[in-house]
Amino acid sequence: PSGARPSGPVVLRGTSPSMALQPHELPAMLSVAAGGLRGPAHHPAGHGAPGHDAVGHDSAAAGWISPPMHPLVSMPAGLHRNIPDVAPFLPAEDPATLPEARPREVLHLADGDSLALVAHAVRRTIGGRSFTMYGFNGQVPGPLIRVTENATIVVGFTNRLPLPTAIHWHGVRLDNAFDGVPHVTQPPVPPGGAFRYEVHFPDAGLYWYHPHHREDILQDLGLYGNLRVDSRDPDYFAPVHREEVLFLDDLLVAEEGLVPYGHETATHALMGRFGNVLLVNGEPEYDLEVDKGAVVRFLLTNAASTRTFNVSFDGAPIKLVATDIGKFEREAWVESVILAPAERYIIEVRFEDPGRVALTNRVQALDAMNGNFFPEIDTLGMIAVADEPVGRDLTREFRRLRENRDVAADLERYRSHFDRPVDHELVLTVEADDLPFPLGTLFKLERAYFNPVEWAGTMPLMNWPTTGRNVRWILRDPTTDAENMDIDWRFRQGDVVKLRLTNSLDALHAMQHPIHVHGQRFLVLALNNVANENLAWKDTLLLPAGETATILLDLANPGDWMLHCHIAEHLEAGMKMVFTVQ
Ligand code: C2O
Ligand code: CU
Repeated sequence: PSGARPSGPVVLRGTSPSMALQPHELPAMLSVAAGGLRGPAHHPAGHGAPGHDAVGHDSAAAGWISPPMHPLVSMPAGLHRNIPDVAPFLPAEDPATLPEARPREVLHLADGDSLALVAHAVRRTIGGRSFTMYGFNGQVPGPLIRVTENATIVVGFTNRLPLPTAIHWHGVRLDNAFDGVPHVTQPPVPPGGAFRYEVHFPDAGLYWYHPHHREDILQDLGLYGNLRVDSRDPDYFAPVHREEVLFLDDLLVAEEGLVPYGHETATHALMGRFGNVLLVNGEPEYDLEVDKGAVVRFLLTNAASTRTFNVSFDGAPIKLVATDIGKFEREAWVESVILAPAERYIIEVRFEDPGRVALTNRVQALDAMNGNFFPEIDTLGMIAVADEPVGRDLTREFRRLRENRDVAADLERYRSHFDRPVDHELVLTVEADDLPFPLGTLFKLERAYFNPVEWAGTMPLMNWPTTGRNVRWILRDPTTDAENMDIDWRFRQGDVVKLRLTNSLDALHAMQHPIHVHGQRFLVLALNNVANENLAWKDTLLLPAGETATILLDLANPGDWMLHCHIAEHLEAGMKMVFTVQ
């Protein structure tokens, strides 16, 4: 599956772009690359100001703060003149009047318990600066809700935000009426309104909750929390010394403050909004102290809008244990863990030697202007390993890789479907015809480099002005040519459906998509026709550019369910569909 890939450099493969630069575009291109915008000056209505070269001049006039450049990648100077074709949005409250966000609390809830969950503005202090952001019950991340499998809880949600919303219980196979998708399973909860959710947890695993309306704003400003569903089997996981539940995220901060969001629709629609400050549980720093020999189970969730993480611990062996909806068939050693937005991975790490171990994100970034891939390594946190040996020695337990017979037994019922022909197909692509000059041309230039996963936000000024108005991300059913919400798939409860997803390279800007299916579970049977030999149930899958995945969907839960890309800006730019299970 998408995790467990080695952390080596991404292999570059050749491609012959069908939308390569046309000869007539070359002169304009060269003048842009030379640092000046001397081509035809098609600025978005009202925002062009030829002759003003002051960086950010036009954007400031329109209330925008432009995103900072990537420190290692220079962009053509004139690009600052392109600003999004929407109004800027930031929370209006003065942070000085707000309560400081508290770290999350852990709530152990029993079957039948209720919880009041309020979304409202909080003050966050990040790197010594105060921002108005959002939280659940004053906490960022929101409360960690811990239950045992088969429990049902009642959540009384109150919306004290300026935007309508609804809460989605990501990955949980609950009743459709409580899935939290505005206009599909419920009316949006207006500002000041409330909604009562009954959340039933049929499967052990690590889940999360977040708003399902303008995730690009609300989730990015801090509205997310974990749901941890414990198995009834006391031996479900191996013994460890401690557990750490970590949300990975990023935030886009400029000199002047947070870069505003798009009011009418999302900005950064092409690549998604990459932040420039990486966060663990909402903080730019993460510290952990353990004794020598300690084994720690990390439960990881990626809450970023678009960033895919590749995390490792300074070469310490990582044992891959579980993902979205439970354990793998068998545990495995990996060098790093790749998490696309919304994916979860559960891993175990043993800290053998005293000293400091960095938790890092190691990726490969692309400088398309200068045609150069370079490594980007960020320290997310630091684990201090004491000289003192840990009390109980778990060396033997840690070295052993478990075979999970319970998982294999569950999978057995599905094996007869593995070699069946595909039932449905989706092709993933994009249309972006009205991009302001010279963005369309620059994106064609960028297509010369094949980048299966876009790991880093190296082109902020090209990405920022693309919005849900000039970019449309597409799921297309190639048998009917229906797209996004026009796709009409109907199934019966109990159907097992084989679906092939192809991430097309023919698009203006091909990139990876984390595809999420609501209310069901699936197996990733194969990537690029290579069979996956270690299966686990998932609800979100990372599909790199140019790749094909075959998944087996277990449709056990009736209702109207969404399938969409979990890059918040792609969802906002149309990349979603609803299928029905009768
Ligand atoms: Cu986590 Cu439809 O989303
Ligand atoms: Cu996408």
